[in-house]
Amino acid sequence: MTSLSLLPLQVTPQLMLAVGTAVIGSLQFGYNTGVINAPQNIIENFYNETWSSRFSEPITRSALTALWSLSVAIFSVGGMIGSFSVGLFVTRFGRRNSMLGANVLVLFAAAFMGFSELAASFEMLIVGRFIVGIYSGLSTGFVPMYVEEISPTSLRGALGTLHQLGVVIGILMAQIFGIESILGNRSLWPLLLAFTLLPALLQCALLPFCPESPRYLLIDRNEESKACSVLIKLRGTDEVSEDIQEMREESQKMMREKKVTIPELFRSPAYRQPILVAIMLQLSQQLSGINAVFYYSTGIFERAGVSQPVYATVGAGVVNTIFTVVSLFIVEHVGRRPLHLVGLMGMAVSAVFLTVAMALLDQLSWMSYISIAAIFSFVAFFEIGPGPIPWFIVAELFSQGPRPAAIAVAGFCNWSANFLVGMCFQYVEQLCGPFVFVIFTVLLLGFFVFTYFKVPETKGRTFEEISAGFRHSSGQGADKYSAPEEFNTLRGHDPDL
Ligand code: GLC
Repeated sequence: MTSLSLLPLQVTPQLMLAVGTAVIGSLQFGYNTGVINAPQNIIENFYNETWSSRFSEPITRSALTALWSLSVAIFSVGGMIGSFSVGLFVTRFGRRNSMLGANVLVLFAAAFMGFSELAASFEMLIVGRFIVGIYSGLSTGFVPMYVEEISPTSLRGALGTLHQLGVVIGILMAQIFGIESILGNRSLWPLLLAFTLLPALLQCALLPFCPESPRYLLIDRNEESKACSVLIKLRGTDEVSEDIQEMREESQKMMREKKVTIPELFRSPAYRQPILVAIMLQLSQQLSGINAVFYYSTGIFERAGVSQPVYATVGAGVVNTIFTVVSLFIVEHVGRRPLHLVGLMGMAVSAVFLTVAMALLDQLSWMSYISIAAIFSFVAFFEIGPGPIPWFIVAELFSQGPRPAAIAVAGFCNWSANFLVGMCFQYVEQLCGPFVFVIFTVLLLGFFVFTYFKVPETKGRTFEEISAGFRHSSGQGADKYSAPEEFNTLRGHDPDL
């Protein structure tokens, strides 16, 4: 049976409320990723004026590039810290309360960024970006974990993709609000940055009506009857014994295991392979170069000869959103592996087109159209697989015990790579000119090869089945002889694919 035919039955109002509220956190992450793209020149102007009035001389080009790159990339430093701390909160306070509490950070961040102009302080803006980065890092752990844990197995991929849909809608909102006639102008840009407060308030109002994750209640807190009543509401049926049974088994297994710490993830043969897969998938997402586009596309389009770069940036956001929706509808049919592979290869080809178009721009002015098309297709292929899949697949690759530690490690790697791209892109572009995307092409092809050989299919399998596949393939399972077959099935050689 396909997930689509199950959709009306399994997508209950309570499930949608819970998922919809959680992904406001994803929207915040996206909003703050995209918000500094369009108004770059205006805010740089503010930096220049502040600098001039403090030091009585205009800022140098190199100091401005450094300050701007820092303002962009400090967000990812916050993200690294936030994502790494996920495990500290989710086990102690639960998934839902962790999401709720994190909103305090948004309050501070919005105040720092919103009042930075008034206080004539670019430092405040940078601090605000850092704090909202911590919040976003936490969100990239909290949201996929919560969504995966409350979703029925057959909808985990589709609902997991909603995290990314939240991100891309956030980016698109930021791009639209960033248009000059809306908020992206000299007088209103502080509001553009402070806007992030509103989704935070909305999330705080809705979260109290959302349930705690039943897996957390049963497995971490041993509160079976609470878990049961939450599940009945989420699934819209009294028949939840199968889910409860599966969680009980996982819980028993967990009691036999020691607590899984981060070093343990790398030491234990049972986790070594899934953590490697999780890390490589995160790196494939960020080192694909996607955020070169989402942080700097206005400048890229400008240099590619596009006359209205801000509108082309909004166009990229629209394409980004459309293709995330496409992925949402096909991920449960096609599976994670094929979509990730197609996405990586499509991005590599698009990057080649972009490079050729940028290199030939001086001779052929119509190449600017090819650049736009290449960037749009780069973004479209990203959202088919490398955008949504790495975020939710980590939760799928691990059972309840190691999940928080694995999500923290994976998130940290994602954000570190995000930082690298955000901080270095402008410099590398100054060095390599139109050939900057060649670097991403090479990396994309490398990740394609890795995915082809190492990444298993997780579609339609319970968490326990997935980790059993890894245990078998590392020779840790009960029945060694069934190992290769089990792992092959997981790798996507499933006959019904
Ligand atoms: C993913 C990435 C994020 C990027 C976004 C673009 O969520 O993690 O860094 O900006 O996709 O849609």
